[in-house]
Amino acid sequence: MYTNILNRIRVGRLSKSSFDILNRQVNKPMPESPENPKSTIEKTEVDIEKETWDKLDELLEDPENAFLFEHDVNRIAIEEAPTALEALKIANDLIDKRLEATFKLSVLGNVEGVEPISINIEGVRKVLESIQANQEKIGEGGDAIVVIHKEESELFGAEICYKIAKAKAQMEGRNPTLVEAEVQEEFFREMQEYTDLCIRAPEPLYAIKYGKYEMIGMEVLQAVSVKDIVNGKGYISSWFNVDAFCDQLQELLNRLHSNHKYHRDLHRGNIMIHQSETEPEDGKWGYVIDFGYSGYAILGSDPYKRDVGDKTFTFLKDDDIVSNLRETLNRYGNAN
Ligand SMILES: Nc1ncnc2c1ncn2[C@@H]1O[C@H](COP(=O)(O)OP(=O)(O)OP(=O)(O)O)[C@@H](O)[C@H]1O
Ligand SMILES: [Mg+2]
Repeated sequence: MYTNILNRIRVGRLSKSSFDILNRQVNKPMPESPENPKSTIEKTEVDIEKETWDKLDELLEDPENAFLFEHDVNRIAIEEAPTALEALKIANDLIDKRLEATFKLSVLGNVEGVEPISINIEGVRKVLESIQANQEKIGEGGDAIVVIHKEESELFGAEICYKIAKAKAQMEGRNPTLVEAEVQEEFFREMQEYTDLCIRAPEPLYAIKYGKYEMIGMEVLQAVSVKDIVNGKGYISSWFNVDAFCDQLQELLNRLHSNHKYHRDLHRGNIMIHQSETEPEDGKWGYVIDFGYSGYAILGSDPYKRDVGDKTFTFLKDDDIVSNLRETLNRYGNAN
């Protein structure tokens, strides 16, 4: 069962799993209450039948689901179903079956007790739907939106955020989501070792590819990006030492490069600054995020160029951010 698996994923990592909440929410019917208008207006059987056909129409209109009517066996099974509800169930089961073939979940890191797993695909679909229905956006870049789960956040503060790839993400030169998550894991681990530096990466927990849907679940940071600070959304606390931070960012880049790792997308939106009145206990003042273009340099080739088909992509040079960041942070830090 997926519940057990997802509980095992959190072993030794987060104290609370958003999936506990998600599972409860998914499995629990809406409580009957005067505020819940659905329970006060009794739906007729005709209404329900119509709604069900509408849902089915919606599924059939999605070009991804063309196989439902293009293959005679599927079309006949749906057409001959005695009720709309049964037709919808047949269609959903077929969609799940097809997605099982493309579904991939990578559990990152070596968490004790986590083994290769089999997954209840319908459960995964429900969890993803629950995230979609309850999402609250906390960030956005060119390729992805980053959301937290609203209910979780209201109950105890979100600990996990979900980076969901945009449908039209510019794929050229970019890591596919599952690769991005693995690269993030490697950068995260290396940065964890640098206890003398005040910068780290957010911990990735898992990545999911499910049909068109691609997502990384990761630790939510109590931080805002330098880009957002420039736009007036966050602050730089008095304990934050701009020069020490920028010197240590340069040192971090030197160490990563000597291990052949390159970020390749270091702009203001991808550096985040910790938000709290007092200096964080773990000594991490800021974070490097977004490993969508990161990876290893290939021996003997330019680490900032990648050939894709007949095109060559040129990435941002990591070191270029440092002087710009020093100037920006000094300006905004002093303004506070
Ligand atoms: N772990 C996190 N915790 C809190 N906020 C985050 C986290 N990860 C990302 N964000 C927010 O979401 C924004 C977008 O995330 P990210 O940079 O990973 O997306 P992207 O689409 O790959 O960006 P880019 O345009 O740089 O390619 C970030 O600038 C930041 O504000
Ligand atoms: Mg980004």
